Amino acid sequence: MASSFGNYHTHTRHCDGQGEPREFAEAALRKGMPRLGFSGHNVVPFPTDWTMPRENLESYLRDVRELKRRYQDRLEVFLGIEADYLPDITSPSHPRIRGLGLDFVIGSVHFVTPTAGAHAWTVDGPLEELEAGLKDGFSGDVRALVERYYRLIAEMATTTPPDIIGHFDIVTKNNRDNRFFSEEAPWYRAAAREALEAVARSGSVLEINTGGIVRNTSGILHPSEWILSEARKMGAPVMVNADAHRPDDIDGHFSEAVALLRSLGFRAQRQLTSRGWVEAAL
Ligand SMILES: [Fe+2]
Repeated sequence: MASSFGNYHTHTRHCDGQGEPREFAEAALRKGMPRLGFSGHNVVPFPTDWTMPRENLESYLRDVRELKRRYQDRLEVFLGIEADYLPDITSPSHPRIRGLGLDFVIGSVHFVTPTAGAHAWTVDGPLEELEAGLKDGFSGDVRALVERYYRLIAEMATTTPPDIIGHFDIVTKNNRDNRFFSEEAPWYRAAAREALEAVARSGSVLEINTGGIVRNTSGILHPSEWILSEARKMGAPVMVNADAHRPDDIDGHFSEAVALLRSLGFRAQRQLTSRGWVEAAL
């Protein structure tokens, strides 16, 4: 079924995705989608195997801008970036990112460090990486790690609010079957709720990211259902994104996510269009 919504979370071969921007645009047309946003991972000043290599940034910007022009009669294309919040190093409103002339920015926390600027490892990486980071940075204290993660989300929303907050509770990605903690624990709920309140105050759009299901990593939507129902009570705007790393995944599990939003009482999701940001009925 054709989706009447766009996807704004798309990674091409310029970072850790597969495929040229044009192949993603062709997939959008095939699927009857009205618009598509690209969100390559930003460049960070240390090596990773998933952020954009500095030498790819220019071609990423050029290729997506070119696509915008070439497809303007058929598809609304938007140029964005998924920017990390890493205190003292980079943020969604860092001058280097602001200077790129982007249409939108997704702000995400992947690196969870006990203090600013410390050794960076990713919270949504392989299990072994999380276990090592937990041991080295937090002496094995999972609660300290999770509370730090949500403080970083709150700080990002308060001090450098991006257009979209990426995968709000990705800190649970490796927590299948409550491997590390219970998501019903009062301390967990308090930490997540406090960050969510900061997001709701910021005006940033809360993303419902289907990537954990599409790529079968966590197997769930991010954020989880209770966070979404809290978000509805707080009046936070939301949008469904696929976190696509392959052209065919750009609408992955959209219908399930939209059905969940409806069941929770949401009536619309926020979309970026050629007329600017709008509320699109679900
Ligand atoms: Fe991400």
